[in-house]
Amino acid sequence: MQSFDFILFGATGDLAMRKIFPSLYQAYADGFLPHIGKVIATGRSLLNVDEFKDKMSHKSKIHIKNCDDKKWEEFTHNIDYLSINLNETKDFELLKEKINSESKNIVIYFSVSPEFFIKACKNLASVGLNDERVKIILEKPLGMDLKSCQAINNEIAQYYNEKQIYRIDHYLGKESIQNLLILRRFNPIFTSLWKKDYIDYVEISVFETLGVESRGEFYDSTGALRDMIQNHILQILSLVAMKIPDTLDADSIRSAKLQLLRNLKPLDDENIKTNVIRAQYSQSGEFKAYLNEDNIKENSQTETFVAIKVELLDENWKNVPFYIRTGKRMANSFAQIVIYFKDQQYQDIHPNKLIIRLQPENQISLNLKVKKIGKTMDYEENNLILNLNSTLVMQPYERLILDVIEGNQASFNHKEELEAAWAWIDPILENWKNNKTPLYSYFAGSWGPKESFDLIQKDQREWYNA
Ligand code: BG6
Repeated sequence: MQSFDFILFGATGDLAMRKIFPSLYQAYADGFLPHIGKVIATGRSLLNVDEFKDKMSHKSKIHIKNCDDKKWEEFTHNIDYLSINLNETKDFELLKEKINSESKNIVIYFSVSPEFFIKACKNLASVGLNDERVKIILEKPLGMDLKSCQAINNEIAQYYNEKQIYRIDHYLGKESIQNLLILRRFNPIFTSLWKKDYIDYVEISVFETLGVESRGEFYDSTGALRDMIQNHILQILSLVAMKIPDTLDADSIRSAKLQLLRNLKPLDDENIKTNVIRAQYSQSGEFKAYLNEDNIKENSQTETFVAIKVELLDENWKNVPFYIRTGKRMANSFAQIVIYFKDQQYQDIHPNKLIIRLQPENQISLNLKVKKIGKTMDYEENNLILNLNSTLVMQPYERLILDVIEGNQASFNHKEELEAAWAWIDPILENWKNNKTPLYSYFAGSWGPKESFDLIQKDQREWYNA
């Protein structure tokens, strides 16, 4: 791998300390970064480089498994710190001076709120940090709706071309999500069954036992629909349902996902009423109600749970609903895709299932009927299980940062994918803003509101609660 310089905006922030620095260190310790150049951490705080490094050691190291002190020393040796105001052009001159002028590969990571993206890009361009050597990584959320997302994309396009822009969605760096492409592309047994004739419905669930923790202010203006559905879950859905390309290169994967996202059946007020459930957690046992968490507005209507029955216009998926759901303060933490196959001949109500677990474990299991051992011809359900856990599994941010350094956009969002996702989400936001559908409630630590069970049970189907 060629050498590179890495600039991070928002270096004292939570994401930088919890994920970005630990991932960079890990990539270094794993031997993937033989030629690291300079790492220039920037933030608003007035710190000198030693103060910054102290802070980083204190806040980042705890997120690294088996951190090797010697390697950590070597890694931090390359780190510099610059206090910067993203609105000040002159600060960018100082930044430019810190970069090695010979550098041919400059990665700039924006781990800051999107309101700073445009100004920072403009200032980077004004000092020439937008030529072909430069790649920028933009963190989510990219906008709050279609209009604001388009505005950011259009402004940034004045300074950087699409090949230089890496819109990160860390779910795309998860091992099981990457594996989904291999599973679909290289196993004819699944390739041939992956269509409406053989699949009854699909479930995608991402549940967290955590509440909003210290992110109350951010979360209260965001909510589960924008935080998880618009990006992570629609991305998973598009990878499950897209036409699998013959070659798994960046352009083919991104355009297949885009085509699928444009084929989500648009929602109007009528089907939002029946197909979209929003809810907020209430107090239960040791857990506070959402409304009593820190930095939440009084009487906030922000949803912490969403379940949606998604339909596709794609002929391949006619009459095959995708039920998606996500929530905070749930009974269990897990993320999974469940493919429910049809039993065309016997109409069995418990047909075969393919369960792809993203977390807590990387696992694929195929739920089969087998004979109960013994004299009778009774059968029971059992699972063919493939465990894909290993110490070699990379953390998503490590993999994705390495992808950027190498210039591989396959696991990053094209601007049109995000815009297509927002175009589908916007009517739901509008409907909720005008209070056209109720905000339901569920007990913290439960499996979600009753209405989410009704949503699927009225179609004689069920969630897989593991
Ligand atoms: C983030 C959301 O994008 O994903 C968080 O902003 C959420 O609210 C997190 O907790 C979940 O990620 P993971 O990898 O822990 O499932």
